[in-house]
Amino acid sequence: MDLIEGMMTQKSIRRYTDEPVTEDEILQCLRAAIQAPNGGNSQPWQWLVVTDAEKRRRIGEIYKRAWDRYWPAITRDAELPDSEEERERGMRTARSAIHLSEHMGEAPALVMLLGHAEYKNFQLMDDDGPVDIGHTYYTSLVPALQNFMLAARSLGIGTCLTTLFRVHQDDIRAVCGIPDEYEIEALVPMGRPRGNFGVAPRNPVETVTSWETFGAYRG
Ligand SMILES: Cc1cc2nc3c(=O)[nH]c(=O)nc-3n(C[C@H](O)[C@H](O)[C@H](O)COP(=O)(O)O)c2cc1C
Repeated sequence: MDLIEGMMTQKSIRRYTDEPVTEDEILQCLRAAIQAPNGGNSQPWQWLVVTDAEKRRRIGEIYKRAWDRYWPAITRDAELPDSEEERERGMRTARSAIHLSEHMGEAPALVMLLGHAEYKNFQLMDDDGPVDIGHTYYTSLVPALQNFMLAARSLGIGTCLTTLFRVHQDDIRAVCGIPDEYEIEALVPMGRPRGNFGVAPRNPVETVTSWETFGAYRG
């Protein structure tokens, strides 16, 4: 698959068929993931793959419990968009996310990205104190996640980056024996899409791109 086509059509997929995702496919995606750029080639990641049905079921139940706190909180003060089109778009995403909250455990594979606290808390110092070079922990993990999801896309496998499970991260740790010093930064369900890949709606790139001076938009 053409790389740009893959990127343009790698939207969140939250409904999956029952067809399994094979170990080879998962490893192929993970090999692509760990080729991502990362600070100083520190490779601050561990990956945890869950295909066992009982473990998936338990993680799905935890995700649903997290959803049940997340959803009322995120919608509590939310204002509806003005345009009908935007309202419909929001409803579509909500329906899809609600579906995932109820079926996470049925996704053929769940892949978690773990980061070690040592990397998360890393602070570069010199004699004058902290040397701020940005959050290299997150900026190292995110390209790997995106590589992972793009590789899945190229194999016809849908994914959805999720983080709201963090409400009950410790319960997921317990299911999979993840030590406390690892943060679970993402939980990515994988499966063949029930439905189609496609181009996700975005504001035009011209509206978020300045040239030479901030605020100098073209087009
Ligand atoms: C940091 C982050 C956290 C996210 N967490 C969740 C989540 O917990 N559950 C979920 O259903 N989607 C989650 N998403 C997916 C977003 O809802 C999705 O990317 C967004 O609506 C845009 O849709 P698209 O990916 O189809 O283009 C998350 C995405 C990001 C980048």
